[in-house]
Amino acid sequence: MLLIDGKKTSEEIKSEIGASVAQIKEKGGKSPHLAAILVGNDGASQTYVGAKVKACEQVGFESTLVRLEETVTEEELLKVVEGINQNDEIDGLIVQLPLPKHISVEKVTNKIKPEKDVDGFTPANVGRMTLGWPAYVAATPYGIVELLKRYNIDTAGKHCVVIGRSHIVGSPMSILMARNEYPGNCTVTLTHSRTQNLSEITKTADILIVAIGKPEFVTADMVKEGATVIDVGIHRIADASKKSGFKLIGDVKFDEVAAKVAAITPVPGGVGPMTIASLLYNTLLAAEGKVYSK
Ligand code: GUN
Repeated sequence: MLLIDGKKTSEEIKSEIGASVAQIKEKGGKSPHLAAILVGNDGASQTYVGAKVKACEQVGFESTLVRLEETVTEEELLKVVEGINQNDEIDGLIVQLPLPKHISVEKVTNKIKPEKDVDGFTPANVGRMTLGWPAYVAATPYGIVELLKRYNIDTAGKHCVVIGRSHIVGSPMSILMARNEYPGNCTVTLTHSRTQNLSEITKTADILIVAIGKPEFVTADMVKEGATVIDVGIHRIADASKKSGFKLIGDVKFDEVAAKVAAITPVPGGVGPMTIASLLYNTLLAAEGKVYSK
């Protein structure tokens, strides 16, 4: 069984990005600059944004964190986004989700200038990705594609089953795996909460991508021997034997599934670290003006 090591791969990507930054600076250019907007005090969001800012430092990027109160109005938030859109010093902008209920995610996402949308969430970037044009691809699907590539996982003609149809993971993943390039060229089945006979479908998957958000949902009887399994889930479960009092598990029952398949991503240390590396990579592309040059 091949353990697909997202932690190691993300460190490799970060060091490649760091080398590109050094080259840009040698030529007299400026460091790529990522801005993140964080609304409110959600614990998970603070952790994620903190990790993104730290990763910027690690590769030599500038970063700006804009923290807004939970009570900020939609209008005020839209103004902050517009200010960053207009600020030529900033190459990439992310608005950490979820947002408070009184704010429309659609309105805020649509306000982000597509050229700075390094999360790949705007209609322009989703559309460009779908058409196979140069685009900022959302960090999680892009990280998975990069893992498949760097681990030389064969995809052409394979059956790829995706569990979960979110805009952030499942839906773009299904499009990327079907496109006419490597990794891609799969026959793709996108499954979700209304899918009937799910395990009959997952048992035929050569590549199974699980983003359903339920702890240890996928068990050994649901997978084909020799498959490649990508686990996008991450859940905190109480564990008294750990100093922290919890452990992290995925959407896949790791031990029993790992014993049956050819390759699998662990949790933690699989897809998670790749999402930050992808965000940094998109920010580098933004600073170099590469995506919207065509
Ligand atoms: N919340 C959960 N995942 C993400 C992400 O990739 N980007 C943003 N902006 N918010 C998120």
